[in-house]
Amino acid sequence: MHRVIFNQKGGVGKTSITCNLAAIGASQGLRTLVIDLDVQGNSTHYLVGEVDAEQYPAEAQGVSGLFKQTVGPRKMRRNPDSFVWETPFENLFLLPSSPYLAEIEKELEARYKIYKLRDALAKLAGEYDRIYIDTPPNFNFYSKSALIAADRVLVPFDCDSFARQSLYELMANIEELQEDHNPDLAVEGIVINQFNGQARLPGELVADLTEEGFPVIDSFLNSSVKMRESHYEMRPLIYLAPRHKLTQAYVALHEQLEKGAGRKRRR
Ligand SMILES: Nc1ncnc2c1ncn2[C@@H]1O[C@H](COP(=O)(O)OP(=O)(O)OP(=O)(O)O)[C@@H](O)[C@H]1O
Ligand SMILES: [Mg+2]
Repeated sequence: MHRVIFNQKGGVGKTSITCNLAAIGASQGLRTLVIDLDVQGNSTHYLVGEVDAEQYPAEAQGVSGLFKQTVGPRKMRRNPDSFVWETPFENLFLLPSSPYLAEIEKELEARYKIYKLRDALAKLAGEYDRIYIDTPPNFNFYSKSALIAADRVLVPFDCDSFARQSLYELMANIEELQEDHNPDLAVEGIVINQFNGQARLPGELVADLTEEGFPVIDSFLNSSVKMRESHYEMRPLIYLAPRHKLTQAYVALHEQLEKGAGRKRRR
């Protein structure tokens, strides 16, 4: 199953949700791959730390290496799995980002490489039980590639009124992409992140979304400083603080998604 986490608004929790759901699955024995399509490389840093560009020449590595080879000679192409890195966590693998992604974006777009990630994932599918894709906060070549390659999309929402405004545009973009490129893409739901049950506004915002027919997932993620600590320590919550309230909220969300995984599967 290929799940993309996408919202064109920045800072809503895409990276946190990608890496923490992936880590929970991996800790339960699912062989899991995280693909970092964001040039900021936050998932990459979270899971493997600072990348030494001298040791790993950017143009040959990770997602940029995978894309770059699609404009090169066919016989030189390597198996997509050769761009995958191990992480310090059992069963958890990473196709890392690199700064080079920004440089090659225009060329990839001009040469219609938008389906290449889907082709690569088809080759990788047998190797991994779950694939999670982190995206940039833009509806650009990379996020579109991910939405074309995935079979599910999760949309994080951070209980901010600006985020609500942008949800309409976001859902319209996803619908257009489904229609034009990927009719098999299922919107798994909106993940409520940084929910604060004590305050009035978040509850109202979520109630409004539900009333308007948005597919809100009912396992909410609360707000906690543990999240920042987890990024800082470069350890997903399930390893850093398995009994913490936020970790348990993530476990509940993961369980709910996994239960739906069998039911909603369309392929
Ligand atoms: N549940 C949470 N509680 C508290 N802070 C959180 C929570 N989830 C995410 N954050 C914080 O919010 C910030 C943004 O999170 P994250 O990087 O996951 O978002 P993003 O959507 O990937 O951002 P970008 O659009 O820049 O890629 C981070 O500082 C993170 O620590
Ligand atoms: Mg991010």
